[in-house]
Amino acid sequence: MPSPVDVTQNGNARHVEAAPSLFEIEEDLARLLERPRQVNIERKRSFDERSFSEMSMTHSPPRQAYKNSENSSRVFDNMVGVYSPGRWSGIHTPRSAFGFEPHPIIGDAWEALRRSIVNFREQPVGTIAAIDNSAEELNYDQVFVRDFVPSALAFLMNGEPEIVKNFLLKTLRLQSREKKIDQFKLGDGVMPASFKVLHDPVRNYETITADFGESAIGRVAPVDSGFWWIILLRAYTKSTGDTSLAEMPECQRGIRLILEMCLSEGFDTFPTLLCADGCSMIDRRMGVYGYPIEIQALFFMALRCALLLLKPDEENRQCTDAIIKRLHALSFHMRSYFWLDIKQLNDIYRYKTEEYSHTAVNKFNVMPDSLPEWVFDFMPCRGGYFIGNVSPAHMDFRWFCLGNCIAILSSLATPEQASAIMDLLESRWQELVGEMPLKICYPAMEGHEWRIVTGCDPKNTSWSYHNGGSWPVLLWLLTAAAIKTGRPQIARRAIELAESRLLKDSWPEYYDGKLGRFIGKQARKFQTWSIAGYLVARMMLEDPSHLGMIALEEDKMMKPTMKRSASWTC
Ligand code: GLC
Repeated sequence: MPSPVDVTQNGNARHVEAAPSLFEIEEDLARLLERPRQVNIERKRSFDERSFSEMSMTHSPPRQAYKNSENSSRVFDNMVGVYSPGRWSGIHTPRSAFGFEPHPIIGDAWEALRRSIVNFREQPVGTIAAIDNSAEELNYDQVFVRDFVPSALAFLMNGEPEIVKNFLLKTLRLQSREKKIDQFKLGDGVMPASFKVLHDPVRNYETITADFGESAIGRVAPVDSGFWWIILLRAYTKSTGDTSLAEMPECQRGIRLILEMCLSEGFDTFPTLLCADGCSMIDRRMGVYGYPIEIQALFFMALRCALLLLKPDEENRQCTDAIIKRLHALSFHMRSYFWLDIKQLNDIYRYKTEEYSHTAVNKFNVMPDSLPEWVFDFMPCRGGYFIGNVSPAHMDFRWFCLGNCIAILSSLATPEQASAIMDLLESRWQELVGEMPLKICYPAMEGHEWRIVTGCDPKNTSWSYHNGGSWPVLLWLLTAAAIKTGRPQIARRAIELAESRLLKDSWPEYYDGKLGRFIGKQARKFQTWSIAGYLVARMMLEDPSHLGMIALEEDKMMKPTMKRSASWTC
């Protein structure tokens, strides 16, 4: 067959690679999308896949494990299929990997994302939270660490790692600043929630100011920033194959500082991390103080990433030992006590209270009367999820999207739990996705509960903003989780819903209403992470090998403590 001919802009004919027939394209796509469970993210077993259980059990002290590994660069030896420079060359991207024309809004999305880039002394260092001239800026003119993550992933997937590297280095420098709220000094490891580039027109000089919580509404330090920083450093390393950044002494120290704050011994009786309300994406009072799922899942993922990034030397030994021990305890605790499915729900419903001693079944003395009515209807026969919070006599049964998706990506969820979470999403589609993906949490608090728990917050009224609002940024997390569990059709459905509105609505920050039908009351337009989240979701769906930079394989040596309740029939 003669090779097909394409006509270029200036009218010349050139030969292009034989385009696949529609039938071939459909077959390819179907094969990819209907791939059986558990996409094989890593092509070969490497340090990246090494079990942390293995590290602690087969080699003691763990340092020995490192000695036995050929050398530390093995950590990053399996980059196959992840790095694809410039495939989506931004707005000029002609076709996708499967020969389809890209969705028309992709070009607009790239343009908007590029407009949000912030430069510092002529180097790109991040993306601004939102460019909405119609609303008060507040701190939306800053580069938020958590908001930059989807932007960073989009750039990495597009083969543009420079901005990500600059961001990682710039925030690392900010970490070493002294951080104080009034007279009180924060931990050395705290990473900023956000930063801003200031331009002095007189001296023609740029400086950076950062916010570690001392300017934030509510004055809460962002516990999630440090975890995202570590997760992003691993994504950068995995995607580029450049180990030199993570191996810099400054980066190694940065990782240790972040984790030492979380791993220090104290009065804790649980391996989970005790937090103040509003210390993560939900950065206002929402009753997520204590042990919120979002932080616990990010903590677990950051610990696992750190284990891959820390060099096997004497300086890191104590930290690495502590990480390994914590990972064991944390996964046991989360899988046992945060997991809820219909059997577990029934067990809690029948709990006895006031038990004492080691034989107690109801260890945290949860009162069955505290079970909210909605949870009995919400819980499907097939499916389950990690609940919002567990502490003494307190279980927050709300569903939180980010924590559950990160639990899947980090393999904090066992494979059974991961597919149960996807089952739940499918069977509660109306509630959790509705008309605009995705609900940040479910259900919303109303009336008296809203008054008590949020302190009458007018921004967090029922089914708005953090209180049951729908956040398009969460689309990339759903997509990654869906691909990891071998169910990309779930992501495709959600992406199509988002595509029907996002551009038309100018990329809102969030949507309101039970079904997410209305642009949020105070939502910013051109919210960067809504744009980047969509692009990342699209790129991952088209090339699932991108998943490797943001997902970790199951740790084969970890004994799952709790499987989903398979025996339940209803
Ligand atoms: C809001 C969100 C927070 C986000 C910030 C910037 O405060 O609650 O998660 O980082 O806006 O977009």
